[in-house]
Amino acid sequence: MQKKTVLVTGGAGFIGSHVSVELINAGYDLVVADDLSNCDMTNFEGLKQITGRDDIPFHQMTFCDEAATEKLFSENKIDAVIHFAAFKAVGESCAEPLKYYGNNLKSLINVLESARRHGCRNILFSSSCTVYGEPEKTPVTEQTPRQPATSPYGNTKQISEDILRDSVKAYGNIRGIALRYFNPIGAHPTALMGELPRGVPNNLVPYITQTAIGKRECLSVFGNDYPTPDGTNLRDYIDIVDLAKAHVCAVRRMIDDKMEADYEIFNVGTGKPASVLDLVNAFEKVSGEKLNWKFAPRRAGDVIAIWADPSLANEKLGWKAGRTIEDSLLAAWNWEKKLAR
Ligand code: UD1
Repeated sequence: MQKKTVLVTGGAGFIGSHVSVELINAGYDLVVADDLSNCDMTNFEGLKQITGRDDIPFHQMTFCDEAATEKLFSENKIDAVIHFAAFKAVGESCAEPLKYYGNNLKSLINVLESARRHGCRNILFSSSCTVYGEPEKTPVTEQTPRQPATSPYGNTKQISEDILRDSVKAYGNIRGIALRYFNPIGAHPTALMGELPRGVPNNLVPYITQTAIGKRECLSVFGNDYPTPDGTNLRDYIDIVDLAKAHVCAVRRMIDDKMEADYEIFNVGTGKPASVLDLVNAFEKVSGEKLNWKFAPRRAGDVIAIWADPSLANEKLGWKAGRTIEDSLLAAWNWEKKLAR
């Protein structure tokens, strides 16, 4: 049977590069595109090395460029698209909403238009648990009502889900899956790919590893008086390789005609909550390093506690998270040490 080709937009980024490895391992051909606005080619080089494939097509382009998007689809036979390309900094989105609405929505619309025009039926969208806001009940299922977004970034995820849902319904020639990720962490076990935050990291794990390596003075743990067992926020930290594998299952479900509706949503999480202090302690254990950290005031906009009920993905995608936070933190630490060399 002829190999199927998957277009990975944002494929040089943290999540896109890990997904690309798993897609190649699963026997798919790839077309990778990225505008490199928030990463360099490090992870793409890692992808080539891990897979031993020197022939993966790479296009430096933005999907906000309608003509370039159209050209990519006319020059490649694409069977499925995974659309990662988007801006993702919550704070920046509050300062520059038009940058976020412009980029994140325009690129999705262009991808959908070109996909439709060129007979590519299958669209996988990378959404986020941010769409649940501060949930009334945890864990959250896909049926848990979405809350009004607390940032323009979060709003682009909600609007993008709606754009995909409405387009699938109206046009009939495309179908979609939205994967709602919880908190992706870790790095590739080879230490050839990982997170490459620009400037001061916003996210917890890169901040932890950068502090341990000496790039940052001290980790601030934001808030110690939340109504949680140890007073710090609870999240569902999901290993990046586990997360990547969920994409392969979702792509397969679309390409193999196994979807039960033309638009489906799945939570991608472990189902296990962990606190900020759990991460700090687990990091110290696996790295053998003493982490310099202190409590600091709550960070504006932080949700108190959220974790996934991943049963739907477990059942319908045949996917389950297998790695522990210790596994992920060790991989992230090895990646940080490699960057320092
Ligand atoms: C954030 C976004 C989420 C987005 C995701 C993308 C918010 C409210 N949510 O998730 O929408 O999809 O990033 O990466 O911004 N923490 C510290 N010290 C630090 C950094 C983080 O204590 O230096 C704590 C936070 O308070 C939080 C936890 O670590 O409790 C995780 O934070 P982070 O990694 O930034 O992810 P989220 O805020 O959950």
